[in-house]
Amino acid sequence: MTVPQPPEPIPGARLLFSLDPSVSHLNHGSFGAVPIAVQRAQQRLRDEMEANPLRFFTQGLVDRIAHARRHLAAFLGADPDGTTLVGNATAGAAVVLQSLALRPGDEIVTTDHGYGAVALSVARECARTGAVSRTLPVPLTATDEEVVEIVRDGLRPGRTKLLIVDQLTSPTARLFPTAAIVAVARERGVPVLVDAAHAPGMLPATVASVGADFWVGNLHKWAYAPRGTAALVVAPPWRERIQPLVVSWEQDSGFPVRVEWQATLDYTGWLAAPVGLFTLRSLGVDRVRAHNAALAAYGQRVVGDALGVAPERLPEPGGPAVAMRLVPLPPGVATTLDAARELRARIADRLSAEVSIAGWNGRGYLRLCGQVYNTPDEYDRLAVRLPTLLAQG
Ligand SMILES: Cc1ncc(COP(=O)(O)O)c(C=O)c1O
Repeated sequence: MTVPQPPEPIPGARLLFSLDPSVSHLNHGSFGAVPIAVQRAQQRLRDEMEANPLRFFTQGLVDRIAHARRHLAAFLGADPDGTTLVGNATAGAAVVLQSLALRPGDEIVTTDHGYGAVALSVARECARTGAVSRTLPVPLTATDEEVVEIVRDGLRPGRTKLLIVDQLTSPTARLFPTAAIVAVARERGVPVLVDAAHAPGMLPATVASVGADFWVGNLHKWAYAPRGTAALVVAPPWRERIQPLVVSWEQDSGFPVRVEWQATLDYTGWLAAPVGLFTLRSLGVDRVRAHNAALAAYGQRVVGDALGVAPERLPEPGGPAVAMRLVPLPPGVATTLDAARELRARIADRLSAEVSIAGWNGRGYLRLCGQVYNTPDEYDRLAVRLPTLLAQG
């Protein structure tokens, strides 16, 4: 079988970023990359803050944050009155968890594709409240219908107080049918938190179309916002129950302001986030999405071929817009967290390539992303050199 053609590059896109040109940055999904225009916008805001901190914090900052929030909510297709800004998806999940007032015997259900830090947050909330958590195993090859079925069977009405599902999973780069999952959970009376850390900027589905009780997405990954910019979207019945992680001066302002205002923080990232959306729109949102997904598919195929993985054994992402793809590593390689970290660092040091490596259910996987600053030859180079590096152990 022939390798799919890589997409046409988006001319000049790499120059929009300040990335080290000696490195192949093939892991946009972990920490994103902030375009230079966005960095500059944030720096201008910091200059303004440092010119007169008192004025910056006390005259209109709450309104400026609200303005940015409305702008970001419109982009996400979210109800602006249900949207609040938080630092990251991990924080958004923690806000939801600690607002639920869980009691002994209550249950939180997750899947085995969930994000590690969110799982730790669930564990802490359970330890604090006496609630318990249960993880549903979902095979990597499950169809959307099977995923929905597994979730439907895994919920215990009355006992399950929250289901957490990821829109696009981190260790397995799998798009879950979140709207259908939310629908079956609703039938069973179970609220759903959708961890959509990767959705903003990458996936076309609007927040409203997912219909979750709680939805959290990072703008600092695929929407080019400064780091520390995420949106938590809450359905109407829950808004007044949502409490901030830190009580501060806006506590009596209610949702969403009391969640956003976390005392003296650097809020300039949120104010500069609309410039990230402007950058994305300037390049063409659909064009960027199509480019990134096609490039990730190309990378998956060439690296998969180099490792001897038959094309039909390469995990399917579950949808055409997904710009992250998995390549299974040889059995026994990077199956634990420590081994995955060690291999990631070795690939970075020896091959000058940044990738994500994760062990999942006893198998190690390499995760590749496509982004506008990437070119096909970066994946080709990795494909040529990776087998030797793996053979060296
Ligand atoms: C599914 C998922 N949830 C949560 C996160 C955490 O994001 P953050 O570190 O911005 O909180 C990630 C990060 O990659 C993720 O992939």
